[in-house]
Amino acid sequence: MQVGVRREQRAGERRVAATPETVRQLTGLGLSLVVESGAGDAAGFPDSEYRAAGAELAAELPLASVDVLLHVRPLPPDTAAALRPGTVTIGFASPASELPTVAALAAGGVTAFALELVPRISRAQSMDALSSQSLVAGYRAVLEAALRYPRFFPLYMTAAGTIPPARVLVLGAGVAGLQAIGTAKRLGARVSANDIRAASADEVASMGGTFINLALDGPAEGAGGYARELGEDRAARQRALLAPHVAAADILITTASIPGRTAPLLVTADMVAGMRAGSVVVDLAAESGGNVEGVVAGCDVPVPVPGGTVTLVGLQDAASAAASDASRLYAKNVANLLALMTVDGKVVPDFDDEVVAGACLTHDGAVRHPGTAATMEARN
Ligand code: NAI
Repeated sequence: MQVGVRREQRAGERRVAATPETVRQLTGLGLSLVVESGAGDAAGFPDSEYRAAGAELAAELPLASVDVLLHVRPLPPDTAAALRPGTVTIGFASPASELPTVAALAAGGVTAFALELVPRISRAQSMDALSSQSLVAGYRAVLEAALRYPRFFPLYMTAAGTIPPARVLVLGAGVAGLQAIGTAKRLGARVSANDIRAASADEVASMGGTFINLALDGPAEGAGGYARELGEDRAARQRALLAPHVAAADILITTASIPGRTAPLLVTADMVAGMRAGSVVVDLAAESGGNVEGVVAGCDVPVPVPGGTVTLVGLQDAASAAASDASRLYAKNVANLLALMTVDGKVVPDFDDEVVAGACLTHDGAVRHPGTAATMEARN
């Protein structure tokens, strides 16, 4: 069966859904790979490496003739509509927001797998692209902050004087937040963090951070161990309790999100105004509404404070900015999911497998993911 890899269509997207390493993995399973010329250029994988790994190169991927299409960003609706019935697609699909694409995939009889829907169980960890890309984003967030911060991260004790370590505060200690904590620690900063999930206190400590316990009463966890949205009174209490910690931070990194919801507002403009001049705020949730008031996705916003400015960074495409390693991890996630469905060189999804069934967005003309199907029904 022929597996196609296209150049990503979204402007600025540098990642690619297969690397020479995963081409070898998949050809070893009896699949044929065809890669659109230049698909890996921005991630540091030239055509020659794909060819050497056993892929065929195509000037333009023949969408209507591939059996499987691998992608990073959600497919545009016209690409979805150009696929043959029965084509299998694997990639991010943003099912909550890309409804026209979901409709086109279902109408065209495409069997689409959305990496956001891969169940977060131990057996599926090697296919968990949300985690692999969050890891890259958390790492990158700290580097972006360090480059904008006018002072050092580590403690320096020199003959010319002592430089104190930067104080880094991380709000939201999921995969990205934990990686941010680890990266900031490795750079020598003093790191503290807060999250509303009970389990996060130990996770923060295991990365070397100090957990800030705000003692918000009541449960903060919903289905699958994810955080649930706080009611407005608890959210306001959380902001009030966080305010002195934000004011004391030199670097603030926010990553808080609730699946399928707008990101919670954790830091108000007043709280930003209470930070010292030179401080840097990096909001990884900027694309989904932002955790920090005043943040603009894709931009740096200087906020005047006494003595200078605080820089608000609305980090966008953070994983794409580290395209080579992000692609290595992403392509492995994709290849592992495809390998799970490949038997004797044929892709045959077994819907009795909870990973396959859970990740399936559309199949046989229908939207199989209940949440997406319900949203589409409500909109019709
Ligand atoms: P996410 O990207 O949905 O959210 C990021 C973090 O924001 C979460 O830790 C969440 O608790 C936190 N958050 C939400 N509202 C907040 C608020 N008001 N204040 C402070 N923090 C807030 O989460 P992510 O990183 O995708 O994963 C988190 C969950 O997924 C955890 O339960 C984790 O254990 C689980 N997980 C399980 C995996 C597995 O078993 N294979 C793999 C990866 C994650």
